[in-house]
Amino acid sequence: MNKVSIKLATCFFIVVLVMECFLMVYLHRKIIHTRVEEEFSLLLSNGANHRDVLVENYSDTTIKHIVLMEMNEEREVVITDNRGNIIGNSGIDSNLLEVYNPLIKDLEEGKDRILISDWENSPYIVSIHPYKVSEIEVGYVVMFQSTNSLNQMVSYLNVHFAIAGVTSFVVLLLIYAVLSKVITRPLIRMKEATEKLSKGEFNVSLPKLGKDELGELSFSIQKLANDLERLKKDRNEFLASVSHELSTPLTYLIGYSNVAMRDGLGDEERKQYLEIIGEESNKMKELVKNLLDLARMDENSFTVTKTNFESQPFLEDICKLVAPSFELKNIKLNLKTNENFTIFADSIRLGQIIVNLLDNALKYSKENTEVLLEAYKKGDKTVVKVIDSGIGIPSEELDFIFEKLYRVEKSRSRVYGGSGIGLAVVKELVEAHGGTINVESNLGIGSTFTIII
Ligand SMILES: Nc1ncnc2c1ncn2[C@@H]1O[C@H](COP(=O)(O)OP(=O)(O)OP(=O)(O)O)[C@@H](O)[C@H]1O
Ligand SMILES: [Mg+2]
Repeated sequence: MNKVSIKLATCFFIVVLVMECFLMVYLHRKIIHTRVEEEFSLLLSNGANHRDVLVENYSDTTIKHIVLMEMNEEREVVITDNRGNIIGNSGIDSNLLEVYNPLIKDLEEGKDRILISDWENSPYIVSIHPYKVSEIEVGYVVMFQSTNSLNQMVSYLNVHFAIAGVTSFVVLLLIYAVLSKVITRPLIRMKEATEKLSKGEFNVSLPKLGKDELGELSFSIQKLANDLERLKKDRNEFLASVSHELSTPLTYLIGYSNVAMRDGLGDEERKQYLEIIGEESNKMKELVKNLLDLARMDENSFTVTKTNFESQPFLEDICKLVAPSFELKNIKLNLKTNENFTIFADSIRLGQIIVNLLDNALKYSKENTEVLLEAYKKGDKTVVKVIDSGIGIPSEELDFIFEKLYRVEKSRSRVYGGSGIGLAVVKELVEAHGGTINVESNLGIGSTFTIII
């Protein structure tokens, strides 16, 4: 279950561990090497000092003084003569001397140098300093530096490095545990949230996790859940509204057809009922058509076939089509076009767009007002405006009116009818043409819808 986080944390753990081991080994070696080099150069400089004093003042007293100066536990000096005999010794064990003697005797005259440097296995590191006072007064000053302190230093160093190593390992383990938890917990919560979503439970709440990738993922899931919740609510409202919309004309249809079938009804009266039946059937047809469009919009199967056609007859036809409903509400519909021009669009779809806008203008205007349908050419585009002096749309609702099923104030739609599909269809159709739609509206003053195609 915690795989991703464990993988990440393990990678981090291994990389840091390897780096740390490498650094510790490097540091350990470097410290020891530096310390050993220091010992070598100190030994060489002490030996050289003794040799210089001896050469300047060669006498038994000087030899004694040199020997006396090195009477300590750590460092010893041995001075040999021209035959390799020891003429001064600050205290080197005679057994040990027997081991070193052949080495010293075998030496040829030369420069100061380290004779034995193996500090790990030998009890002393040894440096040798040739001296020459006269032809017979020649020999070596041999310095011995005990390796005890070096070995002790190394064991201290090992202990400190071991403590540091174990401590950092424990700290790393802690970081590993915390890291895998920190990454895992939000991931598990997101997984649970998506499981809930897939079961249709959209009321999930995820914590805000900052602005990293995990935070963004959590935010997206939360947004998805909220959107789904809203869609679910919208769908239910839509279904309720559609059934209401369908049932009202159906009630009329059933009622009036029953009345129209009654015997003994005058022709005039029967005609009146049949007209109402026809009107309600048309309303139903319009609603079902919009619903079908909406369904097709969701499937992206809307197609527009653009052709060139004349603006004037096209717009006049539309006005003629809607004129009766405008007259019925005593609203004046004006058409304003400066000249006849060519429109390049799908005439049926553009007709549908304008009728929908006019339908809204009519529906959301009070009696005895005016609606203006204006069209003109702008470059190679056509601009169509529908301007009404109706009830207007609150500014905070303007962003939403093109959403499917969105209606401004549900109470309003009960008064005016409408299911919130019209503008969604319009927008989809305009965009299918590659055009844009805009709305400006002032509450209580009126609205202007502008399409550019
Ligand atoms: N010209 C307008 N004046 C005032 N409000 C409008 C106008 N046009 C649209 N609206 C508001 O925008 C909402 C969405 O409009 P839309 O045309 O999508 O739906 P409808 O008119 O309610 O229903 P339908 O068109 O599907 O029958 C409407 O509910 C209405 O409140
Ligand atoms: Mg409408």
